[in-house]
Amino acid sequence: MPAHFESQVPRYQARVNAALARWLEHPNETPQQLLAAMRYAVLGPGKRIRPLLCYATAELLELDPGKVDPIAVAIEFVHAYSLIHDDLPSMDDDDLRRGRATTHRAFDEATAILAGDALQALAFQVLIDDPLLQADYPEHQAGLVGLLASAAGPAGMVGGQVLDLAAEGRNLTAAELEDLHRRKTGRLIEAAILMPAKLCPARNEADALQLRSFATLIGLAFQIRDDILEVEEDTATLGKSADSDTANAKSTYPSVLGLERAKHRADELYAQAVAALDGLGANGVGLRWLCDYIVQRHH
Ligand code: IPE
Ligand code: IPE
Ligand code: MG
Ligand code: MG
Repeated sequence: MPAHFESQVPRYQARVNAALARWLEHPNETPQQLLAAMRYAVLGPGKRIRPLLCYATAELLELDPGKVDPIAVAIEFVHAYSLIHDDLPSMDDDDLRRGRATTHRAFDEATAILAGDALQALAFQVLIDDPLLQADYPEHQAGLVGLLASAAGPAGMVGGQVLDLAAEGRNLTAAELEDLHRRKTGRLIEAAILMPAKLCPARNEADALQLRSFATLIGLAFQIRDDILEVEEDTATLGKSADSDTANAKSTYPSVLGLERAKHRADELYAQAVAALDGLGANGVGLRWLCDYIVQRHH
């Protein structure tokens, strides 16, 4: 039985922060301004929810956390890149992220775009060059690259961002909104569970299906909670603009369903996610804790 997950959270955050920083050293290879922007975007005070999901999945599958470090790093690089581009003037045009100036404000737009591009490429390089993955899981490296590419790419995050921008000022149906949210955020959250699970293909089919279902449910719940927070919390608490969605006439769960139904939908997904975890054994406490955290968080 792993130690209670909450007490491990700071340790896991420190662990991934150290791994992220290690992959961002390259002093002689990367132009100095580009490296500074990449480090600024990645090493700022993010919650590291996706890496925490990787480590909690490792606990569930009784994998050493060191085995999922490169997966956690690769996903967090893609996440950081997606935030840099999401904040650009041509997208959400936001000036504040994680309580600080957005990357294009702290540097300039071209540097921000290129830092995002570089982080995306580096994410895949981590999955190929990591010595531990090369030594222990060479047969799974291509599969990991495939999972991350599909979560990040046209069918996943980038496709979702396109739908999100196209939905500005329009009235989406609940089904269209759900599809948009599943892609723009859900797929990467899902990858944080499915990629570590890829290292343990011996698990039985029923458990694999249950874990996949948990991952999909919590991915969608995460974005609904994000939409609700923007309505309920202030900019100081969020560390990002609390009226960006309204200013951009975004299609969000509160704008499409109303706040109460949006909360109800988040609660429903939470209950289904908890039910999907039941039966996966006592080692699921970390994922269970993250489930509560994702649906109850205030920033
Ligand atoms: C924010 O993600 C952007 C979305 C995908 C909704 P997080 O809430 O995980 O952001 P950080 O990494 O903690 O800043
Ligand atoms: C961000 O979604 C999703 C991605 C970066 C892929 P939002 O635009 O809704 O999130 P915030 O509010 O800027 O964090
Ligand atoms: Mg956006
Ligand atoms: Mg945004």
